[in-house]
Amino acid sequence: MSRQILVTSALPYANGPIHLGHLVEYIQTDVFARFQRLRGHRVAYLCADDTHGTAIMIRAQKEGRTPEQLIADMAVQHQRDFAAFGMSFDHYGSTNSPANLAIATGIWQRLRERQLVVERSVERLYDPVQKTFLADRFVVGECPRCGAAEQYGDSCEKCGSTYPATELKNPRSVHSGAKPELRPSSQLFVRLEPLQSFLAEWTQKSGALQGEVANYLAGHFLDKPLQDWDVSRPAPYFGFEIPDAKGQFWYVWFDAPIGYIAATKEWCERTGQSLDAWWKNPQCEVVHFLGKDITYFHTLFWPALLHVGGYQLPKRVQIHGFLRVGGEKMSKSKGTFVTAERYLQHLDAEWLRYYYASKLSSKIDDLDFQEDEFVGKVNSDLVGRVVNLASRSARFVEATGLSANYPADGGLFARAAAQSEAIAAAYEACDYREAMRLVMLLADAANEYVEQKQPWTLKKDPAKAQDLQDVCTVVLNLFHQIAVYLQPVLPKLAAKAGALLGSACDRWELVQRPLVGSKVAKFEHLMTRVEADKVKAMFTPEPSAPAVPTLPPKAAAATPSAAAVASAAATPATTAGANDALQKEPLAAEITIDDFQKVDLRVALVVAAEAVPEAKKLLRLTLSLGSGPTRNVFAGIKSAYEPAKLVGRLVVMVANLAPRQMKFGLSEGMVIAAGTDGEVFLLSPDLGAKPGQRLH
Ligand code: 2FM
Ligand code: ZN
Repeated sequence: MSRQILVTSALPYANGPIHLGHLVEYIQTDVFARFQRLRGHRVAYLCADDTHGTAIMIRAQKEGRTPEQLIADMAVQHQRDFAAFGMSFDHYGSTNSPANLAIATGIWQRLRERQLVVERSVERLYDPVQKTFLADRFVVGECPRCGAAEQYGDSCEKCGSTYPATELKNPRSVHSGAKPELRPSSQLFVRLEPLQSFLAEWTQKSGALQGEVANYLAGHFLDKPLQDWDVSRPAPYFGFEIPDAKGQFWYVWFDAPIGYIAATKEWCERTGQSLDAWWKNPQCEVVHFLGKDITYFHTLFWPALLHVGGYQLPKRVQIHGFLRVGGEKMSKSKGTFVTAERYLQHLDAEWLRYYYASKLSSKIDDLDFQEDEFVGKVNSDLVGRVVNLASRSARFVEATGLSANYPADGGLFARAAAQSEAIAAAYEACDYREAMRLVMLLADAANEYVEQKQPWTLKKDPAKAQDLQDVCTVVLNLFHQIAVYLQPVLPKLAAKAGALLGSACDRWELVQRPLVGSKVAKFEHLMTRVEADKVKAMFTPEPSAPAVPTLPPKAAAATPSAAAVASAAATPATTAGANDALQKEPLAAEITIDDFQKVDLRVALVVAAEAVPEAKKLLRLTLSLGSGPTRNVFAGIKSAYEPAKLVGRLVVMVANLAPRQMKFGLSEGMVIAAGTDGEVFLLSPDLGAKPGQRLH
């Protein structure tokens, strides 16, 4: 029977980029949504940017733009990254939308009608100069736990502790620098205690939650009266002003999950559907995917709002753990905090989709990214066990197509078809690890068949042409079944398999019926192997210094500004002066490409730089080519560059120049620069280049 399923991933904050940690969730959800579609169910997969709150307001302020500009920019970035990883959202919205305000207002009215909103006075920090209450993030001072200076009012970045803003030592307002005063402020709360029995029943008995989550809620929250939930924030706040409480805004966590409904509303309006058919229809299964850190928002506050608002409660809340890298928390300084964009500069999105799927179970355990394991799974599972099936058979039947009748295969196809429900059950349970294990066993059986039948040997004997076609028909059918089973995880690979065999892998039941008599397209590469070095490079900390160097005063006068350099594509640099340079230094004698190729030019990272005191013109640079020993290079750029500003910069070096003994030490290469003496300009590759890359 066809089901109707509304699937969501947690809405990413609009104040930062999508990273590998986020992708654990989005990939997991997308696999679920694609699996359900493949099974023939009606699916809506919805997401949106979570845009409100002080963090976004502060970042926008620091960047000198409005929060609206910031969130518009982030929406583009997020959607670009999600598209690159194959997310099949039906709609991507924003919590800062009229739809969200309308739905939030409706739910708020219902809360008011049921007398579930109360107003109380609380003591808040107040800026006496700006005459405004201060959100936690607008107060800085010393951490009350470790004494670190310049910490925000909600948590300490140094020691990680959280505390009320009123406990900060020597607090000051970030607006005026004034010492904040404590003043009474009116605050709105949603009463949860009247909903306690409903929440106890739903969390413990509905079956929507994983067992460990239900137990956690019973033991930590539902064992005592639920506290009122503080849902308002005083201005200034980037969010929705509460319609019946001027100067008060809904706290970001009030309207964030409502964004799930708002995104559905926008999608329904766009596609001519009824919102109620998705959110007020007991036949519709709402399934939320989210990380363990936001459990109680989604299992207590959110069901309370849905219940009062008259919306459908989730049929399932699927909670997952965090991503770790090499057993540790992701860390910017160690280079393990990898953005989606950075990943894509080095690696293929489908590799990550498969890697995560092969590790995800329905439990809340953390998922550990291990470099070797990643390389192994991509190269031996995907390329070695799956893609190889097609690459070892398709070429042999390009001319003939598949056999007209499905040949005897010793029951292989039937056995793989019989696994259909076991694999589907694993997907349904979000036990993708089990689903991948079952599929790889099918691949093993198919590979054994290939080894046994050796199509490449049959190919050599024209008398065995029919045998060859039959064997390849079997192998390609087994490959097709596997491609259908893997379609939720590897939609691109499945699409290529479909194109190869003239049968899209777009329905689960295709695994039951062999393809016969069809054409086989010209074999195109399906997936490449991953190189371990590329995974390493992805986890190598990025240089922190800006790509554009600070120009020395003399050079600055004669050179376009950094901004002009950045927009050089639109405004070509002036050519005035270029002739002078040519006159001063005429072109060298022509060389052949072979001559040029003798010079090994490489991107290098400046890891250290210092002046050579005894030399008027020289800086000593320590350069890294990404791996191997660093190089010591003396460069005549002292008059133009401050050593400290070079550290972290990428430059171009001649890497195969014979080492040269100088008075101050051995020089093991040369950095490339234009000009001479005071007017010297180092060359930098565009952003994205990696140390060690060769220039061609
Ligand atoms: O934790 C987060 O990243 C939140 N932005 C998730 C919000 S989920 C939903 F409630 F909007
Ligand atoms: Zn601290």
